[in-house]
Amino acid sequence: MSAHEVPAEGATQPGDGSGPSGNGTEPILRVEGISKRFGAVVALRGVDLQLNAGEVLGLVGDNGAGKSTLVKIICGFHQPDSGRIFLEGRQVHFRSVEDARHHGIDTVYQDLALVPQLPIYYNLFLGRELTFGGPLRLLSQHRMRRLSERYLDDIQVSIPDINAEVETLSGGQRQAVAVARATRSQVKVLLLDEPLAAMGAKESSLIIDLIKGLAARGQAMIVIDHNYTHMFELCDRLNIIEQGVVSLDTKVADTSIEELTSYMVSQYRKQVTTGREELSEAGR
Ligand SMILES: Nc1ncnc2c1ncn2[C@@H]1O[C@H](COP(=O)(O)OP(=O)(O)OP(=O)(O)O)[C@@H](O)[C@H]1O
Ligand SMILES: [Mg+2]
Repeated sequence: MSAHEVPAEGATQPGDGSGPSGNGTEPILRVEGISKRFGAVVALRGVDLQLNAGEVLGLVGDNGAGKSTLVKIICGFHQPDSGRIFLEGRQVHFRSVEDARHHGIDTVYQDLALVPQLPIYYNLFLGRELTFGGPLRLLSQHRMRRLSERYLDDIQVSIPDINAEVETLSGGQRQAVAVARATRSQVKVLLLDEPLAAMGAKESSLIIDLIKGLAARGQAMIVIDHNYTHMFELCDRLNIIEQGVVSLDTKVADTSIEELTSYMVSQYRKQVTTGREELSEAGR
């Protein structure tokens, strides 16, 4: 069974009449007209986007373009001001990150979501702690330790001591634990917001291999990274986000790093020209 076929708890939320997936053409995730403001700042202005089953979609764009905000809306951290989200063809409303996780959407944030004061092995199971003893739900520390060791070993993340607190790790090691945690369980949609940030060359290759391994198993993912080389290596399709909207949607196979770079430069020039025109209009 591939990752996206794993049924997630509560995924059968009543639809809006658009019907369930199953015809093979319905994207696993579709967002429609998503807008979000923070006070005077308009972060997103009507984003449409879709992620197909088994696909790796890359989001690229300048700092402040709205990429993380979009991811935070998809994973239930922020509520959109307007717009709709469909998971396997059914409209969903996530009240929290926990709610989205129950629907099969998991996230590695740009600003990490590990608990620094807890041991590494515990962080790997956060929110999905293993228990025993039936209704008493006693924590199975021993099993969590043993499985963490095996898991980190399998994916070749070298952490000196899984009993140490996360706060004793370097930024790159923390990132590796966060990615390892998200990739440990099979989910419908995995969101990775700059999973390679703060990584050295060796750790970056390790995470890239991890992501590629997941992609090969059919895991649908949205990845954010500023490095085009990484994005071309990892993604099937790219969406460029500019000032809160998707301005370009292209298959990686249909473009090149050179083409994308020159597109971004031309967009930047347009913005500068528009800015100058607005300034001179204002000065009149
Ligand atoms: N919690 C918040 N409160 C106020 N403004 C916010 C908040 N989160 C994001 N913003 C603003 O929304 C806009 C989009 O931010 P966002 O973090 O989504 O950008 P990004 O594309 O992820 O950028 P980067 O590549 O630098 O991570 C920015 O102008 C940012 O300042
Ligand atoms: Mg961001």
